Amino acid sequence: MHYICDEASEWYPDIEDMRKKITAKTKAIVIINPNNPTGALYPKEVLQQIVDLAREHQLMIFSDEIYDRLVMDGLEHISIASLAPDLFCITLSGLSKSHMVAGFRVGWMILSGNKKLAKDYIDGLNMLANMRLCSNVPAQSIVQTALGGYQSVKNYLVPGGRLYEQREFVYKALNDIPGITAVKPKAAFYIFPKIDTKRFNITDDVQFALDFLREKHVLLINGRGFNWHEPDHFRVVYLPRVEVLTDAMGKLKDFLSTYRQG
Ligand SMILES: Cc1ncc(COP(=O)(O)O)c(C=O)c1O
Repeated sequence: MHYICDEASEWYPDIEDMRKKITAKTKAIVIINPNNPTGALYPKEVLQQIVDLAREHQLMIFSDEIYDRLVMDGLEHISIASLAPDLFCITLSGLSKSHMVAGFRVGWMILSGNKKLAKDYIDGLNMLANMRLCSNVPAQSIVQTALGGYQSVKNYLVPGGRLYEQREFVYKALNDIPGITAVKPKAAFYIFPKIDTKRFNITDDVQFALDFLREKHVLLINGRGFNWHEPDHFRVVYLPRVEVLTDAMGKLKDFLSTYRQG
């Protein structure tokens, strides 16, 4: 079951919706913090409410924190496991994003808290690791160096840095397009704008993405690809340089000036 993240509250998870979706069969809560596709960073109060909910129902917490080093505006990432030492938490991360080495395939999971609650699960993981997964030893040898010492990614995240400036640009460019509104992302490198479906008569977001791709040769991901429930969002990855983003946003503006679906 997918819970709603609330655009009106900085894209934080809607705790009441999460609560409603817990049933007798629910085993775990999954969060992605910082988030793909919204670029949200969850503050301590929100994380605490998720922990309280997990505690109340004795649920495991899975937290994908692969963007934890890609945080802007002087904000701080808080790992949910640090708030839940009495629960069983699995924190996932890797070097793909912070060190831009997705091809190295270096990632990890951290099991913490009350492991007694998850004996079967841990046995299963060990069996899988022993029988099926080959460890990526050459790439693993860079992990310690990569995680310690000088973090070059920090220069990307402050004014004048690539990711920061690209975010500023794309946020403004999107909000300048009539019919598009977007919440400013605080972390990662995604933005998840809203499109006024009435204005463009959009009922199918895949069709919208395909029409734009065919006409302007720019690929967006439709919001429903992220289990969003309406055809009124799409994701932009703002990793390309500002010149490329300028071209892409210009094309989107131009495309939407005449687009009507149907
Ligand atoms: C939320 C999230 N977790 C994990 C990954 C994993 O990336 P990789 O398989 O390259 O390590 C991604 C990549 O897009 C992601 O967005």
